[in-house]
Amino acid sequence: MRDKWRDYQVMGGEETLHKYLPETQLLTKRSLWEFMNRYNQVIIKPRHGYRGLGVSTISSLDKDLFEIHIENRKITLTDREEVYDYLKDLQKSHYYNRYIVQQRIPLATIDDCPFDLRVMVQRKRGSSNWVVTGKAAKVAAENFLVTNVAQNVLPVEEAIQNSTLCHIQHQSLLPEIDNIGIQAATKLNPKYRTVGFDIGIDHNGKIWIIEANFNPVISIFDLLIDKMMYETIKKFKKG
Ligand SMILES: Nc1ncnc2c1ncn2[C@@H]1O[C@H](COP(=O)(O)OP(=O)(O)O)[C@@H](O)[C@H]1O
Ligand SMILES: [Mg+2]
Repeated sequence: MRDKWRDYQVMGGEETLHKYLPETQLLTKRSLWEFMNRYNQVIIKPRHGYRGLGVSTISSLDKDLFEIHIENRKITLTDREEVYDYLKDLQKSHYYNRYIVQQRIPLATIDDCPFDLRVMVQRKRGSSNWVVTGKAAKVAAENFLVTNVAQNVLPVEEAIQNSTLCHIQHQSLLPEIDNIGIQAATKLNPKYRTVGFDIGIDHNGKIWIIEANFNPVISIFDLLIDKMMYETIKKFKKG
């Protein structure tokens, strides 16, 4: 079973990758408030989750004023116990009940919608040589914080140019992302031959590894007008 907590620990064990990982802990009352004090805004998500299910953001708006953002809904709560009780209920409604808490990255946005990148890293059968075979930007639907319900899939260069990153020197960003993808796949060393990383870029142009998906769907790349990456990805999957 996929496990975001385990993946975080494995990748974080590599010194060169550590700085790209948002700080993460298993969710407890204590870790939640420690992170809230440190970051003011945190993400909680199921360890074994997928497709953005159960991912929510908790923000501190003021002293004793908190906002929980889940899917496209926002709820305001006025004390810490209420926040924790709310999260407990949320966890009960899923069959998995183990969550992680994570520093929320202020993702770069396009028209106020956050986006992140899906970076495909693949190896051929019998080879340990990982190759980046595709990258695409997933833009969150309006009022969503997760990009899983993507309203739009764009070529990475186009996304960056149309985003809050347009004035940032981004020539070195893409090679750096490729490097991170290859290092992370090598470290994770999965039995699968395709890893799809969710890679975030914050407003300052800093790169973050959000998660690793093993054997992910490749249909995102069929949504791009240029089918080059889609064809390459399919070729790697076969061989
Ligand atoms: N730490 C974070 N900071 C900002 N956005 C995040 C963070 N973690 C997740 N997200 C957003 O939520 C989406 C879903 O989270 P992810 O960890 O990929 O879980 P899932 O397995 O459900 O896809 C990400 O693609 C990203 O858009
Ligand atoms: Mg994801």
